[in-house]
Parts: sequence; C-alpha cells; structure tokens
Amino acid sequence: MSDPIRWGILSTGNIARQFARGLAELPDARLVAVGSRSQEQADAFAEQFDVPRCHGTYEALAEDPDVEIIYVATPHPFHEANTRLCLAAGKAVLCEKPFAMNAAEARRMAADARSRGLFLMEAMWTRFLPATVKIREWVRNGAIGELRMVAADFGFRAAWNPNGRLLNRELGGGALLDVGCYAVSYASMLMQSAPEEIAGFAHIGETGVDEQAGMVLRYSGGRIATLSCAIRTAMRHEARILGAGGRISAEPFWRAQEAVLTVDDEDQRVSLPFRGNGYCHQAAEAMRCLREGETESPIMPLDESIVIMETLDRIRAQWGLQYPADEA
Ligand SMILES: NC(=O)c1ccc[n+]([C@@H]2O[C@H](COP(=O)([O-])OP(=O)(O)OC[C@H]3O[C@@H](n4cnc5c(N)ncnc54)[C@H](OP(=O)(O)O)[C@@H]3O)[C@@H](O)[C@H]2O)c1
Repeated sequence: MSDPIRWGILSTGNIARQFARGLAELPDARLVAVGSRSQEQADAFAEQFDVPRCHGTYEALAEDPDVEIIYVATPHPFHEANTRLCLAAGKAVLCEKPFAMNAAEARRMAADARSRGLFLMEAMWTRFLPATVKIREWVRNGAIGELRMVAADFGFRAAWNPNGRLLNRELGGGALLDVGCYAVSYASMLMQSAPEEIAGFAHIGETGVDEQAGMVLRYSGGRIATLSCAIRTAMRHEARILGAGGRISAEPFWRAQEAVLTVDDEDQRVSLPFRGNGYCHQAAEAMRCLREGETESPIMPLDESIVIMETLDRIRAQWGLQYPADEA
C-alpha cells in the first residue's frame, strides 16, 4: 500500500464529526490534524477522534506542514475564505456543499485552485456512493432509453431555531442552499448541462430565508427536472429518473443504498450499500486524484460546481432572496 494521505479537518461541527468517522473507513487515509476557532473545541474533537494535532485557529491548521488535504466543513458563507486560506498555504481542499454562497465565489475558488495547481472539489458525497455510480451507469448505457425527466425531493422539518445555521440568513440559511442543492446537483449530474429555463416558487419565512421551494428546470430537447426542498416540511427523499424506455428510482436519493430499474413493468432492485456512513467514498476519490496528480475530479468537476451555483443564483433571483455575500 502507498503512503497514507494526511488529512486535516477545518471546523468541529456536525458534519466534521461525521466525516472523521467516514475517513476511519479508509486504511490509506490518516486524520492528522483538526482546526477550530477555539482551542478547547479542537482539543475535544482530537480526543474523540484520536487526532494527533489540534489547532486553535484555522490559520494554524492551514499552515500545518504535515497536512496534505483539508476538508472544509464550516457553514456556507465561510467556504470561500476557508478554502482559499488552505489553498494559499499549498493545501488541497475538499469543501462542503453548497460549494459557495453564489457563482462569483465559486469562480474565485476554482480560479485560485487552478492558478496554484492544487486539487479542489465540492464534497457532493452523493455522487460517489455505489448506488449513484450504478444509476449513472444505467443512464449512460441507455437502460431507460432517452432521458426525459428527473424528479427529486429533499426536505425535512427542522426545529424552530432562528439563530441556527438552517434559518439564519447571516449563516446562509434556507432550504435551497442546504438541501435543494442536492436536487439541483442530481439533475445536473444526469442532464449533463445547464438548464435553459427555470421557474420556481418559495415560501420565504420570517427569518428571510426560503423554508420550502418547488422548481421546474427545462433543459435542451425539452427535458425537464421537477425539484423540491424544505427545512420546515417533512418530505419523501425520492428521485425518479424517467426515460423513453424505462425509469429508475432511488430513495433516499442523496444517501442511496439501493436503486430500482423498471423496464417493461419489470422491477430490478439492486442493493449497493455504502461503506460506514458513506462519507468515505468522496474522500477516496479525492485521494485517488491526489495520488494520480489530478487537480479535479471528473465526477464532480469545478466547472460543474460553478454551473450548479449559477443555477442556484438564477433560482434565488426569481424569489428576490439575497445574502450578504451577494453584496460583495
Ligand atoms: N454532506 C453532508 O451530508 C452535510 C451534512 C450537513 C451539513 N453539510 C454542510 O456542511 C457545512 C457545515 O454544516 P454543519 O451541519 O456541520 O454545521 P454546524 O454543526 O453548525 O458546524 C459548523 C462548524 O463551523 C464552524 N464555524 C465557523 N464559523 C462559524 C460561525 N460563524 N457560526 C457557526 N459555526 C462556525 C464551527 O466550528 P469551530 O467552532 O470548530 O470553528 C462549527 O462547529 C454546511 O455548509 C452544510 O451545508 C453537509
């Protein structure tokens, strides 16, 4: 086995913890450092996940000479600054979804990584799950004939906490950026292009962010995606992929462990569990890229992350939903 890839984790929140558990699934990965805004939080995280070095600032983590790649897991308004801090220190970066607050930020992040020749990828972990890989393969190989429609829904009812990340506009709150981005990214992955036209409605709640939304995206050739998302309404989490000769369904699509291919009313159910909590698959792809000298993953390329952010910008523009980052 080649030398392990040495990871750092930037922040100590919910998904940072999940990712640390996921990384432990990979024998060729080492979690060597964590960085937090507080030394106390970094120490506690390090103790829980057996991390050798804990830094009380993000800057110190970025400068840690033993770290090769940093996973950025802060709320979305900080993705650009945190990612670019790590890139400036010569580190590869895997950055949480949504990649940024808007397309302008995403473009700057991509340009920065490219100009430095460093690896950068959005942590859209769904794409790397074995069940999603199988679905892409079915669609690409024509198992459902010509692709015509994609439907995807992702919504849950979060507790009312106007200061928390989900509802607070300053922290990038709202359903579209939190979970709608999965649905938009899924449609992008399958349609392989940007939508030509978009129509959407949202309920903007009392904290000024979208609590639920429904969208229709029209792609070339009359292909259509119907997507919905919510942070205050419990929904099914299903994707339906409809072709001229059959259909595919997966639920929950964003953490799929099985998929059903239906052709001529015959169901073929395929079980493809992910490893551990599923977060290791994206990390394995980042490590493959690092080992093979690739600065972008063909499965989640930077240009597509930018197109997805452009789509999210276009949807938000219809609702008049602005964030502080849009004023920069
Ligand atoms: N892939 C997935 O399945 C998944 C799931 C959940 C979330 N996410 C994404 O991951 C990101 C983080 O979400 P999360 O649920 O982990 O959030 P969280 O539990 O609130 O944790 C965010 C962490 O970011 C750091 N942070 C830096 N500046 C902050 C600020 N001003 N306010 C609050 N926290 C700040 C904090 O770590 P320190 O105190 O240590 O600095 C905090 O613990 C979001 O972009 C979200 O979309 C992805």
